[in-house]
Amino acid sequence: MTTKKDKERVVNPKSQKSDKVLDTTLRPKSLTEFIGQEKIKQNLDIFISAAQKRGEPIEHVLLYGPPGLGKTTLAHIISKEMNSNIRVTSGPSLEHSGDLAAILTNLEDGDILFIDEIHRLNKVVEEILYPAMEEYALDIIIGKGPSARTLRLDLPHFTLIGATTKISLLSSPLRDRFGSVYHLNFYQDDEIKLIVDRSANLLSLIVDDLSSAEIAKRARKTPRVANRLLKRVRDYAQVKADGNVTEDVVQKAMEMLEVDQYGLDKIDRDILKIIIEKFNGGPVGLGTISAATGEETATVEEVYEPFLIQVGLLHRTSQGRVATENAYKHLGIDLPNSQSSPPTLF
Ligand SMILES: Nc1ncnc2c1ncn2[C@@H]1O[C@H](COP(=O)(O)OP(=O)(O)O)[C@@H](O)[C@H]1O
Ligand SMILES: [Mg+2]
Repeated sequence: MTTKKDKERVVNPKSQKSDKVLDTTLRPKSLTEFIGQEKIKQNLDIFISAAQKRGEPIEHVLLYGPPGLGKTTLAHIISKEMNSNIRVTSGPSLEHSGDLAAILTNLEDGDILFIDEIHRLNKVVEEILYPAMEEYALDIIIGKGPSARTLRLDLPHFTLIGATTKISLLSSPLRDRFGSVYHLNFYQDDEIKLIVDRSANLLSLIVDDLSSAEIAKRARKTPRVANRLLKRVRDYAQVKADGNVTEDVVQKAMEMLEVDQYGLDKIDRDILKIIIEKFNGGPVGLGTISAATGEETATVEEVYEPFLIQVGLLHRTSQGRVATENAYKHLGIDLPNSQSSPPTLF
């Protein structure tokens, strides 16, 4: 679920409508162009070369990790490197078993079927996938009641690439049918800087080193956010300066966007402030944070929290969410005494 506020956030890692053009222009087209995620690249490279040597399609691949880290990009790169056609669909858009059956029967040998948000497939559709993935077969039920029988159709040898932000929601029979599973992690700041430099180049923008490093620092370790920030800085430079991106331009653009040096925006800071000021630093339940900020529970959990946890400003405990010492420091709020000398249990 995304709220209106959420969609407009410049630091939201989820794809927004306005990203479409940028995403396609800036998307790396080969493994060598893809920055970072070195282990995954090495594995994929071997995996792809071996399959090509054998003249076979690659095994089914599952990509998982937070939004904006390159799952869709990798799926397209795999298809390019394999010289395969790619058919793109997503869990929520496959409503009926017939939707998936139609796609499967239209594939050809060696084609790639990319199912984004695969954790959102419904059960009935998912069950069609099992024999399709395992035996390249499609079971069709003909007739109804006692006279019903199953007809098995052969399917071409395709490769399924699934992408998900929530692997825990994937059923184990589905997960087990993937030959390889890759976990995309947040990027290092120097990798994000390389991505900003590469994107600036593609957009014919002059950005000096300090400026791209500054943008990278605020990009929440996420390529999509880095590209979006770069675009907003470019707009700012064109309207308020001579078009070149300098450190001063970056600072002012970020001030305007209310994105601080950690990449936190106003809503992130509000979440931390609520935990600290209204609940003594926590623990606070997710539902309470959601009610106090007016954001959907799922949005708080999937969009805001992962990054706050990643940068060590928030902890998830069994009692609820707790603001860390760093969160107090970041917001310039004094630590309460109880935190500097924790109470003993006995
Ligand atoms: N490793 C990378 N190197 C360069 N650019 C990247 C990389 N990963 C992602 N991007 C950029 O970020 C954008 C979002 O990536 P995408 O693959 O759509 O993320 P996801 O599918 O995981 O949400 C892409 O359009 C691409 O421009
Ligand atoms: Mg994607």
